[in-house]
Amino acid sequence: MVIAVIGSGYVGLVSGTCFADFGHEVICVDKAKDKIEKLRNGQIPIYEPGLEELVDSNVKAGRLSFTTELTDAVRKADVIFIAVGTPSRRGDGHADLSYVYAAAEEIAASLDGFTVIVTKSTVPVGTGDEVERIIREINPNADFEVVSNPEFLREGAAISDFKRPDRIVVGVSGDRAKSVMTEVYRPLYLNQSPLVFVSRRTSELIKYAGNAFLAMKITFINELADLSEAVGADVQDVARGIGLDNRIGSKFLNAGPGYGGSCFPKDTLALVKTAQDHASPVRLIETTCSINDQRKRSMSKKVISAVGGDVRGKKIAVLGLTFKPNTDDMRDSPALSIIQALQDKGAEISAYDPEGMKAAVELVDNVTFGNSAYDVAKDAHALVIVTEWNAFRALDFSRLKEDMAVPVLVDLRNIYGKDEVAKHGFSYMCVGRPD
Ligand code: UGA
Repeated sequence: MVIAVIGSGYVGLVSGTCFADFGHEVICVDKAKDKIEKLRNGQIPIYEPGLEELVDSNVKAGRLSFTTELTDAVRKADVIFIAVGTPSRRGDGHADLSYVYAAAEEIAASLDGFTVIVTKSTVPVGTGDEVERIIREINPNADFEVVSNPEFLREGAAISDFKRPDRIVVGVSGDRAKSVMTEVYRPLYLNQSPLVFVSRRTSELIKYAGNAFLAMKITFINELADLSEAVGADVQDVARGIGLDNRIGSKFLNAGPGYGGSCFPKDTLALVKTAQDHASPVRLIETTCSINDQRKRSMSKKVISAVGGDVRGKKIAVLGLTFKPNTDDMRDSPALSIIQALQDKGAEISAYDPEGMKAAVELVDNVTFGNSAYDVAKDAHALVIVTEWNAFRALDFSRLKEDMAVPVLVDLRNIYGKDEVAKHGFSYMCVGRPD
């Protein structure tokens, strides 16, 4: 089985590498020459634990290669995965499908023999139909089927998510494509991951429904965190108390500064747009989007109140910039909104992140970056944990207290407890737990 993966971004690179690890021959294609050159030299363009080693071993085994030549890859392939980006379209929030359709056009001319073309990118309902139409128009005699196979991996846990998925969703109608997809995923369903065959449109909707539901679940617990603060309850105990009910489930009930990243914000918005276009609004998701947008900025109020009501001229040290740990991804990170809101109120910001600072430099102004938590905490009036990197889970509070102007910790990820911090002389604020 020869697999071509078009687009060597997060999803394309991880999927292609894991397919190679299953034993398939995989050709990863990308237009960006420098990216392909780096990959050929064993350099990975993103930070993802375990990926570099897996790329290396599969390249050495001769199963994984990288190229900018789409035509050759398509000609050889039995299966082609389209894994290009579908960012928010500027102005209206719809998913921008121009990269997907451009890939379809390029693929069309070079198809050779029966080929299964799979959309792995997150695409709105009906995109598979359009991909099929484009290819048919350009190459009327081509023998192909278009399948939807959304990806559910998370950044930071991408390889284990890909290799041990809760399920694999395949939107397919023809038997030939169904048997090819069964072959592609054989190692996984042998490992008991269910293969769920549905219609193509259903599969496309499942991806958005899944992300929207998770975004809604996080937003639900975030609102309950605010309510817990107001009534003197503990949101972590509320989450545990409801999460042990199997119908609810305990995952994605960690209250925090709001969800960010390259997926939830853009996918919830795209679902809202699709639903509006079909005069079938998804009001829970509309509300989820607006609550989350407001929440990210409003976290600055916690910091302001923790330093006595005014941040003007005070140094605030921010720990964690990426939208979650174990990634260098800064897209829609809550840290960006919080920093901006604090700067608007006159705060001076210093910040540290183990992997995100390279990207952050391009996104924020007037921030002093440091090399460690201790470095940025010097003379600060508050330390604010925005992202729960492991490096911040065992801070030396005695050392921090000596260096800070005032020992205040605002823990937006609830990784500490009031008592353990108070014994070092720190005042403590968190999310949804009694202060
Ligand atoms: C998300 C989904 O979890 C994946 O299943 C999906 O494949 C991916 O989007 C995608 O569509 O490509 P990801 O964005 O990598 O994955 O990260 P998550 O772990 O889902 O976290 C998203 C955001 O929610 C982060 O900002 C995180 O801090 C926040 N979050 C998550 C919470 O605030 N509380 C939680 O309990 C869980």
